Amino acid sequence: MPQLLYIETFGCQMNERDSEIMAQLLGEHSYVQTNKPEQADVVVVNTCSIRGKAAHKAYSCFGRYKKLKGKGHDFILAVTGCVAQQDGAALLERMPYIDIVMGPQSIYTLPSLVAAFRRDRKSLVATELSADFVIPPFLPNLAEGPAHKRFITIMQGCDNFCTYCVVPYTRGREISRSFGDILAEATHLVRQGVKEITLIGQNVNSYGQKGCDTKQNQGFPELLRAVAGIDGLQRLRFTSSHPKDLSEELMRCFAEIPVLCPHFHLPVQSGSNSILQRMNRKYTIEAYLDKAARLREYRPDIALTTDIIVGFPGETDDDFAATMQVMETVQYHGAYSFKYSDRPNAKAADFPDKVAETVKTERLARLQARQEEIALALKQADIGKTVEVMVEGASKSPANQWSGRTGGNQIVNFSCEAKLVPGQLLMVEIESACQNSLRGKML
Ligand code: 5AD
Ligand code: SF4
Repeated sequence: MPQLLYIETFGCQMNERDSEIMAQLLGEHSYVQTNKPEQADVVVVNTCSIRGKAAHKAYSCFGRYKKLKGKGHDFILAVTGCVAQQDGAALLERMPYIDIVMGPQSIYTLPSLVAAFRRDRKSLVATELSADFVIPPFLPNLAEGPAHKRFITIMQGCDNFCTYCVVPYTRGREISRSFGDILAEATHLVRQGVKEITLIGQNVNSYGQKGCDTKQNQGFPELLRAVAGIDGLQRLRFTSSHPKDLSEELMRCFAEIPVLCPHFHLPVQSGSNSILQRMNRKYTIEAYLDKAARLREYRPDIALTTDIIVGFPGETDDDFAATMQVMETVQYHGAYSFKYSDRPNAKAADFPDKVAETVKTERLARLQARQEEIALALKQADIGKTVEVMVEGASKSPANQWSGRTGGNQIVNFSCEAKLVPGQLLMVEIESACQNSLRGKML
């Protein structure tokens, strides 16, 4: 009888990829995934603590598993991700029903941790953060999840120490994977039929600078060119980037690499130089805007998206107005925007002049309302254009409705009587636009 595994994942793409890795590793020990936690023999909760709200979600989720155990379900509860790294052994003290606590660097040892727990029935903590940690070479199987698009983690950790951010403390120092391992993983995926690869890391622009065996001329632009050269790959994406590390060489890739999708996620965080300085972002808004404009020179159809924090300590009305102005100037296709929250260890937690919750709420609402208008207007400007769409899948209802994504990462819905395959590329003429998607006619 196979053992059943249930994984609950919060947060970023790095976590999603880590969850796939854990599923594969346990799969090699006869574990099969279930979507019913009450049937599982092992439950893994992969947590995020980037913002206060995210960490809160993790804690309330632990409560649900406590209840399940209380009802007599016998399963091993393992917690990983940034909350596990941050709280470590303290998590076990507060929540003794958790069996295994492991940091993101320890996920590769999950099968042995589970085996050790089964043997000794003693809770385990594996949260060492080593500066010498190397992501092991790993060849993913496609048994779970989409077969046409995949993430590859190319680096982990972060050395930037933005003053609001917990990541350098939970994910540790920035370490890039070896060029050869990434290329081998990408080639392996494409050979199995994957059409789209997204290279992921906290700050992919600085790939190759720290902690790996890459040579000169094996930085991020070279990595993009090498992966793009794999025969059969149709789309290449990456995220996330730090504006200070966005080089001219990387911008040029958008003009020169046909499979590189015209989308750049470039977190601005704030439009005010004094806030950017206190955030320790190491760029001015002028430099940021210049890079955004240069990107558009290289690739006029590039869609820009961003992350914005409102209500950073000391943010005045004028600072916030500067952020609103950046949105007008750049015209983002999308923006993830958040109210600032204090995070453990992050420097800004000790900054004075915290902004009142009501002010943050009001600013966020204003910013999001304006961003929605901008995004809708950009979508409306696509009406009448013919775009290349990669098929994602069929809608559940009504029948014959399909959905796909443009290179700029916009969702496009369209009708088609024939059976399409996820990963297939089609041309679609855009006929209408709504807030979150475009609608078109397949050509
Ligand atoms: N408060 C609010 N937002 C935050 N982010 C990171 N830390 C915080 C925080 N303490 C946001 C940033 C980052 C995104 C992933 O989360 O905008 O780019
Ligand atoms: Fe956090 Fe800044 Fe690193 Fe992004 S670049 S993970 S915001 S410290």
